[in-house]
Order: sequence, then C-alpha cells, then structure tokens
Amino acid sequence: MPSDAKFALPGSPATPIQLVDPNGLEAVLAGLDGSAATWARGNGFSASLGETCVLPSLEGKIGRVLIGRGSEAARRRKRFVIGAAIAGLPEGRYELDQSSAEDTDLDQLGLGFLFSQYRFDRYRDQSASKAQLVAPSGIDVARLEAIAAGEFLTRNLINTPAQDMGPDHLETAMRSLAAQHGGKVTTVEGDDLLVQNFPMIHAVGRAAKQVPRLIEMNWGESGPLLCLVGKGVCFDTGGLNLKPGASMGLMKKDMGGAATVLGLAHMIMSLGLNLRLHVLVPAVENSVDGSAFRPGDILTARNGKTVEINNTDAEGRLVLADALALASEAKPDLMICMATLTGAARVAVGPDLAPFYTDDEGCAKTLGDAAARVNDPVWRMPFHDPYEAMIEPGIADLDNAPSGGMAGSITAALFLRRFASEVPRFIHFDIYGWQRANAPARPKGGIGQGARAILDALPEVLDL
Ligand code: BES
Ligand code: MN
Ligand code: ZN
Repeated sequence: MPSDAKFALPGSPATPIQLVDPNGLEAVLAGLDGSAATWARGNGFSASLGETCVLPSLEGKIGRVLIGRGSEAARRRKRFVIGAAIAGLPEGRYELDQSSAEDTDLDQLGLGFLFSQYRFDRYRDQSASKAQLVAPSGIDVARLEAIAAGEFLTRNLINTPAQDMGPDHLETAMRSLAAQHGGKVTTVEGDDLLVQNFPMIHAVGRAAKQVPRLIEMNWGESGPLLCLVGKGVCFDTGGLNLKPGASMGLMKKDMGGAATVLGLAHMIMSLGLNLRLHVLVPAVENSVDGSAFRPGDILTARNGKTVEINNTDAEGRLVLADALALASEAKPDLMICMATLTGAARVAVGPDLAPFYTDDEGCAKTLGDAAARVNDPVWRMPFHDPYEAMIEPGIADLDNAPSGGMAGSITAALFLRRFASEVPRFIHFDIYGWQRANAPARPKGGIGQGARAILDALPEVLDL
C-alpha cells in the first residue's frame, strides 16, 4: 500500500502540458506547429474539463499534451479532474506549461495528481500510474506531499478489513505514526479501562476478541493544545441490536474518524506546526457475545453521567463520550471530534459533504472558508438546544438512541457536547469516510473528509 506520493524533481527534460480554456481553443490551435492543430481537431478536442489530447513531435514521440480546463461550471461540479488526467497520461515525465495555467488552482492540480497515485494493493496487485509530474512552480511541494501522505494513511486504515484492522492493529498503526514523528503513545486496555474510569469504552468493546482500549498520542513541546478525538470502532455489528446485513456490510469503515484524525495528525506533524497535539482514539469492536452490553442497561460514563442504552448500535457516542471527557480534562484550546457517527448525517447531506457542529461562530466561519479554498467541502449543522430534551430518557441522565430517530445526527452531536462542556471551542464532524464510486483522484473506498479544511483553518483558529 502506498504511504506517500511525490512530485518529480525538476532538471531533465519533460513533455510540456498545455492547459486549454474552451474559449481560447481556436487561438491555442492556431499557435501549434505543423499538423498538430489538424490532429487535435481531427480528434475532436474541445477542451472540456480533463479532456486530453496527446500531440506527436516531428519524430513521432509525445511532443506536447493538451488538457482541457472546461467551463467554470464544470470545474465547480468535479474536483481534481486535471491532476487526475495528468496521472492518467502515458508513461513519461511531464511538466506544466505555466503560461497556460494562470487561472488554474495549482494546489488542486497538484493534489489531484498526487491523490491519483493511490492504490489499495494489499490484497491484489494494482496497476500504478506511470506518469511523473515535475512540481509546478508556485506550489508548496512539501505541504502537498505531506497532505497526500496523510490522506493515504487515512485511506489505507479505512480500506483494510477488520480482520487486519482490529483494535490491536489500530494501536500498532498509531505507534508507528508516533515513532515516525517522535510522538509518544500510551494505552489503557481491557479491564484497566474500568480501573482508570473509562466504563463506556469497556462496555462497548468487551464482547470482542481484541480487547477494547483507549489509545493516546502526544506530540509537540510548545504552542496551543489541539486535541483530536476519532471514533475507532473497528467493526460495528450493531451489538445485540444487530445491524441488518446490508447495513453491516461496510462497517469496517467505522474507524473512519480515527483514520481521519490520524491522517490529519500525520499532516500536522510532518509540517511541524507549532502546537501541542493530543490524539485520542477509543478503539473497540462492537461485537456480539454473552458478555455484550444490552439494550436497557444503564452505564455510567467517565464524567459520572448515566446513560440508558436504547440501542447498542448507537455505540460511537458512548466510546467517544469517555474519550471526550478525558480530553476535556486537559483544557485544550481546540478540541475536534471526528466520527462515522450516524446514518442520519448521510441522509441529511449525502456522502460527499462533511457535516460539522460547533458553537463557536469564528471557528465555523474560518472552517467554512478554508474548506472552500482547499476543495474539501464541509457543512455546518446546528447544535439545536431545544432538542436537548430528546436525549433525556427520564430514568437516566442521557439516552443513547432517542426513539423515532428524528434529527439523528443532531441528537448524537448534542449527546457528545455533554462531554465537552468545559471546552470553549469544540468541533464535531459526523463524516462518512467512504467514496462510493471511482471519481478523479478519489478511488472507490476509504476517503479523508474535513482534514484538509481543518489543516488550512488551524493557523487562524489557533493563532499559529
Ligand atoms: N456506525 C454507525 C453509523 C453509520 C452508519 C455511519 C452507516 C455511516 C454509515 C453508528 O454506529 C450507528 O449505527 N448509528 C445508528 C444510531 C441509531 C441506532 C441511533 C444509526 O445511525 O442508525
Ligand atoms: Mn453502530
Ligand atoms: Zn458505529
């Protein structure tokens, strides 16, 4: 499995890539040598978004490549198309004719190229892209390569099936990430979770073969404290309120929140941001066994709140609650939670938008702007106070699965907020973590959501 992707170094000759705007097509063709314009016309090249036309040189080699920029509307509809088109070119070294790229988002182009190098080849060989791209001038090469490495980590973790990505493996992955960057990992596992007061992580995970655990990583010596918490449910059967088969099929991805915060942590540490990072992953398998927690049980969380279990399939909020309670104790300057938390979030915004919740107007604005800049779409959802009553069952402080399921993503978010009350700036993402069909630079499978937007927003939010 690839752990990163790189640009080619400048130096030796490379085939020029000329970006072509549909409005400027005639002028570009008129400027081409010899029979090239006839060739491009004969091939019907119309400069639509990502359309490529390979032009031969006089010796019959690849002399130049035209790639269409398409209309602005087309570019708004699809991300990463041009970079992906470059990755799909025949084997060779290419470089951008920068005079043709003035109105082009080079970061998106570069990321599209790097992201297109990803292959999940752990269980089957996959053909790799053989096109190399010299880093366009003006982009921050180290930054884009760090982002790609973080994204690849996220994808690898999500794509790996649960038999090879249980709580043990997730811990190993976190330890190797920490070792790469000089971070420190500690874990609390099995019955120690009870001793050290993480009762809900224990309750959710105790039915599984691989023991439940809370994995923590600390990195950085100075600067503001950023805490990232990621849902690490390595497989979600639903517990005793078992999921139907169709809903269970994809549940290897229920550690997508953990995978995404680890990818983001990888980016932050590679770039050496001046902050202290605290990453928390409650890692469990929500499994079925005689020792499983049951519907009707009332659990007591780390912070003393009691929770009536109305559905063991609403397990993510339980393990996150204990982790958020611990994270809050350190009074972070910013706490971000990422989780594949509810099906309701998918119904609300679909697979492509990452819905987030925060009470901090400044954070919301900064995050939304960053998301638009870096093409990592997010959508703010409301912590709607009047719905608080829905998560109060009567015989305990909280209900983990309000009946009826109205506003399911919001009630899950409100539940989590009860465990983050001491933290002034708390953001919760209810992500999907999965790309359902191949798209440019985004192959079917695990996918990062929100991490790039957060990375871009951090300097402003934390005053770095
Ligand atoms: N992991 C699921 C949520 C999920 C399902 C995310 C499908 C993405 C795709 C979560 O643990 C869950 O099962 N949530 C339940 C909560 C309900 C029982 C209150 C849900 O959303 O149905
Ligand atoms: Mn569940
Ligand atoms: Zn789940």
